[in-house]
Amino acid sequence: MTTILTNITSLVNVREENVLLRGAALSELPVINNAYLVIEDGVIADYGVMDDLIHTPWSFTESYDASGSFVMPAWCDSHTHLVFAGSREEEFVYKLQGMSYAEIAAKGGGILNSAAKLNAATEDELFNAAWTRLQEVVKLGTGAIEIKSGYGLSVEGELKMLRVIKRLKEKSDVIIRSTFLGAHTFPLEYKENRQGYIDSILYNMLPVIAQEELADYIDVFCEQGFFSLSETELICKAGMSYGLKPKIHANQLSATGAVQLGVELEAVSIDHLEMMDEDAIQSLVGSNTIGTLLPTAAFFLRMPFQPARQLIDAGAAIALASDYNPGSSPSGNMNLVVAFSCIQMKMLPQEAINAATINGAFAMEVQDLAGSISKGKVANLIVTKPIPSLAYLPYSFGSNLIDKVMIKGEWV
Ligand code: NIG
Ligand code: FE
Repeated sequence: MTTILTNITSLVNVREENVLLRGAALSELPVINNAYLVIEDGVIADYGVMDDLIHTPWSFTESYDASGSFVMPAWCDSHTHLVFAGSREEEFVYKLQGMSYAEIAAKGGGILNSAAKLNAATEDELFNAAWTRLQEVVKLGTGAIEIKSGYGLSVEGELKMLRVIKRLKEKSDVIIRSTFLGAHTFPLEYKENRQGYIDSILYNMLPVIAQEELADYIDVFCEQGFFSLSETELICKAGMSYGLKPKIHANQLSATGAVQLGVELEAVSIDHLEMMDEDAIQSLVGSNTIGTLLPTAAFFLRMPFQPARQLIDAGAAIALASDYNPGSSPSGNMNLVVAFSCIQMKMLPQEAINAATINGAFAMEVQDLAGSISKGKVANLIVTKPIPSLAYLPYSFGSNLIDKVMIKGEWV
């Protein structure tokens, strides 16, 4: 099957090479105006300016006139907790009444609340709820997504979550990567026996995860009251011994040294980064580790936004992701993530789009498949409604400007 999109007002993020973007390069967003795009068997096969179309050797099964539309690579959301049971809007209301995130967590709320709900749910219930959420974010333009475990906090619960992610990978045409986050918090029964839970991660969970190939990455929530630096290091290294590279929850609530540790461990990414000090910034700058910023989590928790400008100007490689989860970012809408990055973190529209596409692809190592309009990449695309310019996307935040989404060459 060969599809052609014609009369595209602007074909966005067209690249011949995969390069992780940092510094000034992040603001360079290559486009072809008045373009055509050819998709063959789910893969981007050709593109160019309309004037050259007459020379293409293709014969087309389907033709779509994209007059007035911008066509972009689908969003690459490299940090989510899409698999969860129930929701936590009652805690949301507690917070409106004045309780803090830490206070709610200390009362057995927060992650533990989600863990109780998750352990009570069947694998099928979890799968169905996650499937519905996945379809929702796909309609919002997400074409590649990383999904974490971390609401099981028991051998059975963590494996159940990871098996759900594996089923999502098998059933969906979306590009999915899986991360083991058993070290999300300590379950209540291990509060006085932290090493006992860590041993369970190391000796009861990891070997099965490796055996059944349930995860691509290992993650730890490194934070005061959660996992310490040395615990984070131990767990990441254990994961690495099974071939799982680290992606760490770092510097969300305080500057813990997790950024420097992540860089030392050559983590694929270190994520959150609300609380950065100069040393953390400099250590990220000198590395190939990607700093993944989660502005909707900062927004929802009323935390300071991540210092995107400082990071970009210093030369760090950054990506943007949604952190979709029931506690700190109950939205997986990458269009809002891009808008907030511009509005609240002063990223330029071009920077935000690059950070949410090609750099996001790098942050889950799918840059050969997704993140740009490049020959040979999977045809996961956003076709916008008629808009005057790219800056209009973050400018008119909250409007749904997506006309159509294509996943693996098929319209959603
Ligand atoms: O990425 N920070 C840790 N974990 C999640 C929130 C977890 C929750 O509250 O359920 C996050 O923000
Ligand atoms: Fe997270």
